[in-house]
Amino acid sequence: MKQRLLTLIKLGVGGGLLTCIVACQSMNGDGLLHTQPIRFQDGIGTILESRCLECHNHVSAKESGELNLETRHSAFTTGIHAPVIVPGSPERSMLYRVLAVDDLHPVFMPPTPDRLWANELTVLRQWIADGADWPTGKQGTLVRPQDWPTP
Ligand code: HEC
Repeated sequence: MKQRLLTLIKLGVGGGLLTCIVACQSMNGDGLLHTQPIRFQDGIGTILESRCLECHNHVSAKESGELNLETRHSAFTTGIHAPVIVPGSPERSMLYRVLAVDDLHPVFMPPTPDRLWANELTVLRQWIADGADWPTGKQGTLVRPQDWPTP
């Protein structure tokens, strides 16, 4: 009986470990090993703030496709094509699609020569795929570069 219990425990531990090896090390096309979902704090806010907020804020949203990316609420509800973020589906998220298209395409963002780095695009894609975590409150509130404090 004791022996059988021990075997069961061993099996249980082994099975758990195996599941973890399979589930915990899912490769996501970019060759990176993802063990945790990408959170807003993992640089997402920084990318959006430094690359998009200049135009996508409450003052200039009117001239920028009506899209204001200052808060979770505004990001999920504003934009001519709102919602521009579809958690779990980068392909259906306009926010990702306008970045991923060819830079000769008229909707290519940002509309300046400085294209996002490949790793910025990868992390944004993975963030949306992982559910587009975006905290409410101060933690998730972005400030347009025009209002950044001068050092
Ligand atoms: C220099 C200003 C500027 C910057 C920087 C910028 N955008 Fe835009 N964005 C615009 C304008 C203007 C439009 C309106 C569409 C057009 O005229 O091309 C737009 C439209 C969009 C739209 C479509 C909104 C809708 O619902 O139709 C999305 C999504 C978008 N931008 C995402 C981004 C993201 C993400 C970034 C940062 C990586 C970014 N943009 C950076 C000016 C900007």
